[in-house]
Amino acid sequence: DGLYTVSLIEGDGIGPEISQSVKDIFSAAGAPVKWEPVDVTPILKDGKTTIAQETIDSIKRNKVALKGPLATPIGKGHVSLNLTLRRTFNLFANVRPCRSIAGYKTPYDNVDTVLIRENTEGEYSGIEHIVVDGVVQSIKLITREASERVLRFAFQYAENINRLKVRAVHKATIMKMSDGLFLGTANRVSKDYPNVEFDAELLDNTCLKIVTDPTPYNDKVLVMPNLYGDILSDMCAGLIGGLGLTPSGNIGDECSIFEAVHGSAPDIAGKALANPTALLLSSIMMLRHMELYDHAQRIETAIFDTLAEGKTLTGDLGGKSKTHEYAGAIIKRL
Ligand code: IPM
Ligand code: MN
Repeated sequence: DGLYTVSLIEGDGIGPEISQSVKDIFSAAGAPVKWEPVDVTPILKDGKTTIAQETIDSIKRNKVALKGPLATPIGKGHVSLNLTLRRTFNLFANVRPCRSIAGYKTPYDNVDTVLIRENTEGEYSGIEHIVVDGVVQSIKLITREASERVLRFAFQYAENINRLKVRAVHKATIMKMSDGLFLGTANRVSKDYPNVEFDAELLDNTCLKIVTDPTPYNDKVLVMPNLYGDILSDMCAGLIGGLGLTPSGNIGDECSIFEAVHGSAPDIAGKALANPTALLLSSIMMLRHMELYDHAQRIETAIFDTLAEGKTLTGDLGGKSKTHEYAGAIIKRL
C-alpha cells in the first residue's frame, strides 16, 4: 500500500496529546506513514526491567519508532524505560540538534548546534553498589568499541550534513583513563576522515564558551560521552528556548527511535496545554531518516512559519493556544 509502518510509543502524561498532533499533521500532509501503537509498560524479569516481546518485535520489524515522554522514577524503582529502550535496541548514537526558532525570542537568534551523544555506556551503565553504609560506587564504563562506534557515526554524520568539523568534548585532564580512551579513539578515528577537520575541547570550557557566544559552534558537530551529552544538550536547548523545541534521534544499526527530550509534564497532562513542537521536530528527523525528504521539508516549513507568525503559540512560548489549535494552524499551512 506504499505506506511505511512506524512503531508509536505515545508515552506518559502529555504523550498522547502531542502524539495526536503528530498523527493529525502527518495525515493532513499525506505523509506515507502508518502508525503501529506499541505498549512499553515496564516488566520486571529476574530483577531486570524489560518490555513486552511484541513491542520489541514491532520496533525491530519496522526499524523506526517515534516515542513520546516516559516518566522515570527518581532514585528508586525500575530502570528508566528510556534507557531500557536505548539498551534493548543498542541505539548507540543520540543526535541532538538545536536551531534558533524565529518567533521565540532568546538572547541569541542564530544558534545552530549539533550534538552527538554516546548513548549506551559511561555513567549510564547502571553499575552501582554500596561499599559500606554511606559509601556508594558508580562505575563509569568507557569502551573502545562503543567510543569508536559513536565517533565513526559522528564523522559520517558530519560528512552527510556537510558540516565538516568534528569536535570531541571530554574531560581527559581529570578522567585520564576513561576520557583518555575516548579522546585517543577520536584522534585515531579522525585519520580515516581526511575531509573532516577534527579538534577537541574540555567540557567545562565548552559550557562557558557556548553560553557566552554560541556562533562558533554553528559549523561543528560535537561528539561526547553519554553523561556530558545529556547535560550539554539541555544547555543547548536552553539557548533556543528549552526542551519544548528540541528534537532527538536515537540511532542504531538495526533500528532507530526518535523522541522528544522533555519529560511527561504530569501537571499539565490532559489539559491540551502541551507544546508538541519537540515531538513534531523529532518526527521530521524521522522522516529524513526514512528518506522522505519532501514530506519532512513541507511539514517543517509549516511548523516554523506557524511559530514565526506567533499567533497560535502554546503557553510555554507565551501564547494562549491549545495543543490542537497550534496543530490546526500548522495543518492550515500545509
Ligand atoms: C534524556 C533524558 C534521559 C537521560 C532520562 C529521561 C533517562 O534526560 O533523554 O536526555 O538522562 O538520558
Ligand atoms: Mn537529558
